[in-house]
Amino acid sequence: MVIIALDFPNKEETINFLKKFDEPLWVKVGMELFYGCGPSIITDIKKLGHHIFLDLKLHDIPNTVKSAMKNLAKLDIDMVNVHAKGGIKMMSEALTAFDGMDKKPLVIAVTELTSTSQEMLSNELLCSTTMEKMVIKHALNAKEAGLNGVVCSPLEVKAIKEACGSDFITVTPGIRLKSNSVDDQVRITTPADARVLGTNFIVVGRPITKAEDPVSAYKQIKKDFMGE
Ligand code: C5P
Repeated sequence: MVIIALDFPNKEETINFLKKFDEPLWVKVGMELFYGCGPSIITDIKKLGHHIFLDLKLHDIPNTVKSAMKNLAKLDIDMVNVHAKGGIKMMSEALTAFDGMDKKPLVIAVTELTSTSQEMLSNELLCSTTMEKMVIKHALNAKEAGLNGVVCSPLEVKAIKEACGSDFITVTPGIRLKSNSVDDQVRITTPADARVLGTNFIVVGRPITKAEDPVSAYKQIKKDFMGE
């Protein structure tokens, strides 16, 4: 699946963008849009028939995350995330917010942000292990907590699937076609390479949202990812 990152500042730009598409999409609503518009943006997007990944990366003490997630559970979302750094108890408490619901969203964990470098991990955060080992440990913790998968770099998918099993979902940003601008992304792959690496969802923002023709850019990326 291709998830379009709706990194827009307001409702008007978001809805104008979505109205160009005449098929159901997977879209990602992040902190900018959610905090700017409030929860009503979820209802507005849902009315257009799209699937929503709410990317708020919850991270606090277990009880607070559980209470916050209970509020998010009232929204009609299809995927939501927490930070794996909050630990196994925090992640499993987050899941309990959906107890008793017929239609539960996929709950996934952020491993290490792609803005965190090995240098930062070692010298700023005094973490004595390697980035790869840290990412795998976060993924194993998320699995133990009962989560459905993780957000990670496409380059980490293979190791995560080996450690956590092929059913464990990976959601990967950092995707560019060869013809696209790299922007500020560092470790990138093409949609086709992401498929070969075995990821389930790719998250793509600017190559679609900033394209002259967003619908054809989306179709091209989807085609490349699906291997059609
Ligand atoms: O425009 P672009 O395709 O780079 O957008 C990628 C999206 O994925 C953005 O919303 C960005 O915040 C998000 N993301 C990321 N790297 C991560 C986690 C999330 O690029 N590690």
